[in-house]
Amino acid sequence: MAEANGALLGNLFFEPSTRTRMSFDAAFCRLGGRVCDTTGFQFSSMAKGESNHDASRVISGYVDVMVVRHPQMGSVKEFADASKVPVINAGDGPGEHPSQALLDLYTMLKELGRDLSTINGLKVAMVGDLRFGRTVHSLAKLLSLFKDINFTFVSPNELKMPAYVVDFLRERGHTVKETSDLIAGVANADVIYSTRIQEERFESIDEAQRFKGCYAINRAFFDRYCDAHAIMMHPLPRDNRAANCELNNDLNDHSQLAIFRQTDNGIPVRMAIFALVMGVEKDIEKTFRTVGFQKRLIGA
Ligand code: NCD
Repeated sequence: MAEANGALLGNLFFEPSTRTRMSFDAAFCRLGGRVCDTTGFQFSSMAKGESNHDASRVISGYVDVMVVRHPQMGSVKEFADASKVPVINAGDGPGEHPSQALLDLYTMLKELGRDLSTINGLKVAMVGDLRFGRTVHSLAKLLSLFKDINFTFVSPNELKMPAYVVDFLRERGHTVKETSDLIAGVANADVIYSTRIQEERFESIDEAQRFKGCYAINRAFFDRYCDAHAIMMHPLPRDNRAANCELNNDLNDHSQLAIFRQTDNGIPVRMAIFALVMGVEKDIEKTFRTVGFQKRLIGA
């Protein structure tokens, strides 16, 4: 694999992450590149008051591409504006998480046996903390590029999908229903996309605690109220504690639980993102035709 040989990724995570950080890292290494990273503020010069602008400009002189996660909405754009190299948003506070949206869409297509022309008309229920959960903001916007998507947003009143997202979807001709009733919300959905209560974005843990477990789906619930062909997705991490769990552990061997196939899909999708951003996608296609294990990764 020579496509990203010698290239260097700066993987900058100023907020907790396991799968996103590691999958960007693994994807870049699988393309033949190498990774330098920094995790958290306390070990970076930003603890000394350095701005996003300065940090980005400096690091962009060391690496060929950057991945940035940051707790403030809009901060990754500040990195991008100051950088000499491409910057990929790996989550900016309650804002956006675009690479997750791409791997979510890829998962839906694979799981439902659809393609970009037959995704139109999809029925998606997004459930949980739609206010602070950035993955649903990006996924809704990505799905808005298709036609006649039927969105049902299921959340407590306090954690509704931001109005700017709802308005945007309606302006583009999609159907949007909002409800706090889980049973009504998931009925007939092709995709049930559950999310965690984003407790780190609440004023206090106690405040977040009020909402924990309010939309817990377990095997009995799924079998009774959901379409048998519906798939269950979640960006993970789920809160595995029984009282809180958005998708209960008793679903772990359920055929419709797609969450681990979803995380697996993070690798080929992030490889593709790097390939496009770095302009080596033609070389990658050649490699896909010749390298067996990568063919398995993309499910070809
Ligand atoms: C999500 C995130 O960080 O926004 N996780 C992820 O990247 N897969 C969701 C979450 O933390 O709840």
